[in-house]
Amino acid sequence: MSSTVDRSEILPLTPEIERATAERYARVAHVIPAVEWTLAAPYIVEIDRLKCERNAVILAHHYQSPAIYHGIADYVGDSLGLALEAAKTDADVIVMCGVHFMAETAKLVNPEKIVLSPDLEAGCSLAESITGRDVRLLRERYPNTPVVSYVNTSAEVKAESDICCTSANAVRVVESLGVSRVLFLPDKYLADYVASQTKVEIIAWHGACEVHERFTPDQIREFREENPGSVVLAHPECPPDVLAEADYVGSTSGMITWIGKQRPSRVILVTECSMSANIAGAHPNVEFLRPCILCPHMQRITLPKVRTALERLAPEVVVPAEIAVRARRSVERMLDLEKVPT
Ligand code: 13P
Ligand code: SF4
Repeated sequence: MSSTVDRSEILPLTPEIERATAERYARVAHVIPAVEWTLAAPYIVEIDRLKCERNAVILAHHYQSPAIYHGIADYVGDSLGLALEAAKTDADVIVMCGVHFMAETAKLVNPEKIVLSPDLEAGCSLAESITGRDVRLLRERYPNTPVVSYVNTSAEVKAESDICCTSANAVRVVESLGVSRVLFLPDKYLADYVASQTKVEIIAWHGACEVHERFTPDQIREFREENPGSVVLAHPECPPDVLAEADYVGSTSGMITWIGKQRPSRVILVTECSMSANIAGAHPNVEFLRPCILCPHMQRITLPKVRTALERLAPEVVVPAEIAVRARRSVERMLDLEKVPT
């Protein structure tokens, strides 16, 4: 697990701070040693104070470190949940504890608000895999074929797309277009998964998530053999031969909902490693066995960086107006679909 406060300044710990954070520590005591919490707690209290002062809301993805997830987040969710929450907040400032495309999406639906990304370098291998120019070239090659972009893309790519999707709604978004084929980008594995769930022809780009592409079917089989009775939940960014080993395939929030409903006794979460640590406390009767791979981009977000962002109201996410207006359309089209009952 990544360090809670990295190598930043050590803030003094007082009895008041210990009291103010005791309840939150109880939620993470299984993964954060007490000595590490003594470093985190003063930052958490400082962030609480700044959050009130700035009328800020902190949104965090399921892959954030437990100190962020349980210590400071007002809302935790998958990419779709974060976008929906960002669209409805009345806070003046949004701090996105996640990667850059998540902060950019929050900015697109909140052009008037300040959106902070505590580390602008928190990228994503999928977002890096394609540019706006690539999409324009694809459109030339496949005229009259709508472009569905995963939210794990830059605003520039969203601006060249017809509609966005997340792993939670990709099949629904593709089918909502009422066409026989779509360009689906940039994740080749999510594209394969969507193709397996629909009759719509999927033309895929060749991007991949650097975390999920590392899982292998042999690894999953070995885990199952070593841990009899365990169920396998996998994210659709995994390769198809890995998904073939899974009992359930879904977004990060989808997996959490599945666990809540099915109450399995042993679970292998084939996704980024932090998520098991974050949700284990809420499921004391579930044993989480994880092949542990961390997303280095997600782990760039730390408590000291969040504190600095709130103090300075920077780094702010900025999207040039001519890109924002077109990118927003793609995101809002997806969010509008969420308002239609299934
Ligand atoms: P979710 O939308 O399922 O949370 O996935 C986001 C992501 O980046 C997975 O790697
Ligand atoms: Fe991107 Fe993969 Fe990290 Fe998700 S886990 S943010 S898809 S690199």
